[in-house]
Amino acid sequence: MAVTEEPRAQAKRPPAPAKLIDPKRYTSPEFARLEFERLWSRTWQLACLDADVPNPGDFYEYVVGDWSIVIVRALDGTLKAYHNVCGHRGRRIKTGCGNTNQLQCPYHLWTWDLDGRLADVPERQTYCEFADEDAALQPVLVDQWQHWVFVNMDPGAGPLMDFLGELPEMLAPYRFDRQYKWSSRSTRVRGNWKAMADAFNEAYHARAIHPESITFINYTDYEVRLLGDHSMMIIPFGMPDTESVPTVPDYQEMMEAMAWSFAAFGEDTALVDFLKMCHLEPGQQLRDLMVPLMRGGMAQSNIDVTELDDSQLVDDWHFHFFPNVIINNFSFGYWLFRFLPDVEDPNYSTVDMWYFHRVPDTLETLPPSEPHGVIPEGETCGAVMDQDLGNVPVQQAGMRSPAAPGARLSSLEVRIAHMHDVIDRYLTGD
Ligand code: FES
Ligand SMILES: [Fe+2]
Repeated sequence: MAVTEEPRAQAKRPPAPAKLIDPKRYTSPEFARLEFERLWSRTWQLACLDADVPNPGDFYEYVVGDWSIVIVRALDGTLKAYHNVCGHRGRRIKTGCGNTNQLQCPYHLWTWDLDGRLADVPERQTYCEFADEDAALQPVLVDQWQHWVFVNMDPGAGPLMDFLGELPEMLAPYRFDRQYKWSSRSTRVRGNWKAMADAFNEAYHARAIHPESITFINYTDYEVRLLGDHSMMIIPFGMPDTESVPTVPDYQEMMEAMAWSFAAFGEDTALVDFLKMCHLEPGQQLRDLMVPLMRGGMAQSNIDVTELDDSQLVDDWHFHFFPNVIINNFSFGYWLFRFLPDVEDPNYSTVDMWYFHRVPDTLETLPPSEPHGVIPEGETCGAVMDQDLGNVPVQQAGMRSPAAPGARLSSLEVRIAHMHDVIDRYLTGD
């Protein structure tokens, strides 16, 4: 039987896609190879933060597939990026991050300055003559938005800001310039990078995978917008999930669940402690209590949120930066997830979890980022993340079955279809 969505929800979301998504896109080595050749080689991608390379001589290695890019803070303070490949016999020149006054390959000590110019070749007289320019490091496009540093391996790529489209303006009121990374971790997951992105690009799974939070987050009646190559959804907080919570939830139980969910991301539960002392009048929603409490709390902490409307203050304004970055974006900070494809096996990816907090306006200098930690595969990344990270490998296993029918998507999942459409545009060269 055909089901028609009620008009309000229809207006909130693009229509459900008719076509199925082929599971081989998640499992086939050939498809992964095409993605490396035609997508990762040509798209802007988040490489690091400016806080990873604050001082002249700082470098940071970003690896995606077989590419290694070294991002360098030059002596004049500008950002540079190069293919991290030695002009002698191809060794990677730098590994990880650090500070240096020159880029020197450890194999035979060929050396470049921070501007990528060849500075020294030991025993140069033993080579056939060649021009320094022909052995310069190969530059990679690098640009910055807020604290995010992006690279693009395609020298002919358009400007980063054109690529980001409406996102910078939509995110401007959140003051990313006033946010710092307080937690930085990564782990390997048995799931294709797109299966991970999909799991964050819809909230429809939450009633099954995150049942603790359905009393105070509306996972069904949410708005979706497609924004160029990117997309977003607005997940309403402070109200129950309209479809799966039939009765008014017990207030204190709801508070316990809310505290548990915040703590699962290492977040402060002070708001919940305040809310616990309140009660709901008949007909009142939790968000009616949250708005004044959050505005008051932020003002007390010297954080100006007057540019945020009530929805931006309370709800999760959730963005997908094509291809592989998701942010759960809140008034107090954001949780960033970056999904990196595995170079050997499409059934694996790595997820980076970077969590940010907005700092008081009175604080002049942002605190330094937390050092990065790697969590062994299968070990805990926080209770809510564990729910997603436990689910995706089982989906990945299911998609490998010859009987896997293809993903059938609702309007709640339309961002997934959009991501695949954009990937296809890259793969076909349109
Ligand atoms: S491979 Fe780098 S100096 Fe020889
Ligand atoms: Fe989830």
